[in-house]
Amino acid sequence: MREKMSTETSATGSFGAVTAERGICFGGDYNPEQWDSSVWREDVELMRRAGVNLVTVGVFSWARIEPSPGVRDFAWLDEVLDLLHAAGIAVDLATPTASPPPWLGIRYPETLPVDQDGVRLVPGSRNQFSPASRVYREHALAISRDLAARYATHPAVRMWHVGNEFGQVDFGDEAAREFRRWLHTRYGGVDGVNTAWGTAFWSQHYADFDEILPPRRAPYLINPTQSLDFRRFTSDLLRECYREIRDAIREAGATQPITTNFMGFFALVDYRSWADDVDVIADDQYPDPADPQSAVDIALTQDLMRSLGGGRPWILMEQATTAISWRSHNLPKSPQKARLDSLQAVARGADGVCYFQWRASSAGAERFHAAMLPHAGADTDLFRGVCRQGADLRLLRPVVGSTVEAEVAIVFDWSSWWAAEEPARPTERLVAMEQLGRWYRQLWRRGIAVDVVAPDADLDRYRLVLAPQLYITEPDAAAALERAVERGAHLVVGPFSGVADRNAHVLIGRSPALLREVMGVSGEEWCALPDDDVVLVGDWWQQTDGAAEASILGERLRTDGAEVLLSYADGPLAGLPAVARNSRGAGAAWHLGAVVSDAVLSKILGEAAAAAGVRGVVPELDVLPDLLEAVQRGPVLFLLNHGTEEQRIPVRPGLVDLLTSEATDHVVTVRPGEVRALIERADS
Ligand code: GLA
Repeated sequence: MREKMSTETSATGSFGAVTAERGICFGGDYNPEQWDSSVWREDVELMRRAGVNLVTVGVFSWARIEPSPGVRDFAWLDEVLDLLHAAGIAVDLATPTASPPPWLGIRYPETLPVDQDGVRLVPGSRNQFSPASRVYREHALAISRDLAARYATHPAVRMWHVGNEFGQVDFGDEAAREFRRWLHTRYGGVDGVNTAWGTAFWSQHYADFDEILPPRRAPYLINPTQSLDFRRFTSDLLRECYREIRDAIREAGATQPITTNFMGFFALVDYRSWADDVDVIADDQYPDPADPQSAVDIALTQDLMRSLGGGRPWILMEQATTAISWRSHNLPKSPQKARLDSLQAVARGADGVCYFQWRASSAGAERFHAAMLPHAGADTDLFRGVCRQGADLRLLRPVVGSTVEAEVAIVFDWSSWWAAEEPARPTERLVAMEQLGRWYRQLWRRGIAVDVVAPDADLDRYRLVLAPQLYITEPDAAAALERAVERGAHLVVGPFSGVADRNAHVLIGRSPALLREVMGVSGEEWCALPDDDVVLVGDWWQQTDGAAEASILGERLRTDGAEVLLSYADGPLAGLPAVARNSRGAGAAWHLGAVVSDAVLSKILGEAAAAAGVRGVVPELDVLPDLLEAVQRGPVLFLLNHGTEEQRIPVRPGLVDLLTSEATDHVVTVRPGEVRALIERADS
C-alpha cells in the first residue's frame, strides 16, 4: 500500500505533482468578484510578496458567471486567471455550485431545501439548495461543465475544487423520493426496511414505500434506524452531487486533481466513505483561540485527515489568520499563533496551508472575518506574519510528500457515532466525541502518533488499538480486533461498546457482544452513575496523584477470565469490576467498563502503550510538558509549544532547525508559541 502511495503522489495531475514542483502550497480563497478589477493587480503583487503559490478562485461566483439564466460571463475570470498565471500563482478552480444565485430559487422553488419543520429556506444567504433537487443539479452541472470546458487546460489551473463544505440536508418531497430510492437499493423491498427499522415497535409498519418519509418533526421520538439511515442517505446523496460534478470536470478533459473541502469531524457527512472520491483530502479548520486545549482537538482532526488519505499529504484548505466572526465572541490570534496553527498542520501531514480568505471583505455577512490581507492593508503585523509564514513554509520543503508513521490506531466510525447519539439511551452525558478527545489526549501528551481508522481497518501495522466507544460492532470489526490481539497487539475498549448492530438494534446477550471473548468480561446492564463520582479501588492503583474514579456510565460486569484491575468501592455497582485486562494470544485486551477519571485513563493508556512497545517521539520523556506537542513527520521532528512556559526538550545530538538554521545538541529550547523543525545535520 505504501508503495502504491508513492506512485500515486508523483503521478502527473496529482497533488503530489503540484507540491513536487512548488513545495508546500500556501494561499487561500481568492474572491476577486467582490472587488473592482483595479484591486486585482495589487492582490497579485501582495500575494507574490507573501509567497502565495495557490489560490482557490470562484467558490461563490455563480451569480457573477451566470447573472441571469443561461448567460455566461467568463471574461472577468479569464483576466483573473491570466493575471495569476503571469505571477506564477497556481489556481484551485472552484465550481460556484455552493451558492446558487437568487434567480434559481425564485424561478424553481423546488431547488430550495426544506428543513425538519417543513419550512422552505430562501435565498439571501448561501447554500440554499437541495442536494435532491434535479433542477438544482442540472443547473449546477451545466455551469460546472462550461467552467471545466473553458479552463481544463488553462496553465494556471492546477487543482479543482467542487462546491464548498458539502453539508446540506433536505427533508422535502424530492428528498423523500430519493430517500425511498436509496432504501430500495439498500434493502431490496419494503419488508427489508420494516425489518431493519424494527417497525413492529409502535405500530410503524410500512405497507408501501410511498408511506416512508424523512425523519421530519414528529410528536415524539423518531425511529432511531430511520434517523440513522437518513443520515447515511444524506451523506451518500451529497457524495452523488460531488461525484457528478467531478465526473463532468474530468469529461471536459481536466487532468488536475479534484477535491472538495471537508469540515473535520462533521456530523452530517461520513467522510470516510468519500475519501476515495477526492484526489487529495482537504479540510477546513477553525480551532477556537479562546480554548487553550483546542490544539489537541485539532491535532486529532489532522490525524483523521491524514488517515482518510491513507497517510498521504493533505491540504489545510481553510483556516483564519486571526478572529473569525461566526462564534458569539471571537478572540483574535497573534501572528505567532497563526504561524503555530499552520505549522501544526504541516507537522501532522499537510502539504498545503491555506486560509479563508485572501482579502478581507468590506461588505457582506463575513465583513468582520479575518483574512490574509486585512482591511487595514499590507502595513500590518498580520500581513507581515503572513509573509513570514510563506517564507517558513519554503524552508520546510524537506517534509513534502512524507507522512507520519503511527503504531497506534484509534477506531472511529460515523455510523457508530450517529447511532450512539440517538436520543433515549441510558445517559446523554456520554458524548462519543468527548471520549474520543479524552483518549486521544493521552497519546498526544506522550508524543505518540495515532491513526484514526475504521472499525474493520487492516490493523496489521498497529501495536496498540483503541476503541473509546465502539457502539455499533459488526462481526468483521470484532474479528479484526480479536485477530490484532491474538497477533500481539494491545486493545483497549471503552464503555458502551459492542452495543448494537448496523441497524442500531441492541445485540442480544451479555455485552460487549461479539467482543466478550477477547475482553474476558461480560455485562448485563448499562448503568448511568450518580452525579458524585464513584471511587474505584484495586491493588493495581498505587498512584497518589489524581483520583481513581468513575462517572457518567458504568457496566454491571463479571469477569470471564480477565484480571480485575479496578472495582467500584461504592455506588450502585459496589464490588463489581470496572477495569479489567485479559491476556490473549500474544497480546492483551483492556476493558474499561466505565468512564474513568483522567488519572486512570492516563495510567491505562500509558501502561498499554508501554506493554505494546510503543514509545513517543521524545523517548526520554514519558509525558511531555503541558501543551508541548511533538510529532515526527518524515525526516523532521516537530516540537510545537502551545503553552505559556518555555520548555527544554531532550533530543538526539546532531540536529538542525530548518526554520532557524540553528544547530541543536542534546537539548532544545522551545519558547511559548514557537515551533522547532529538527532534521539530521548534513555533517552529522
Ligand atoms: C467556511 C466557509 C468559508 C467561510 C468560512 C468562515 O469554512 O467555507 O466560505 O464562510 O467558513 O470561517
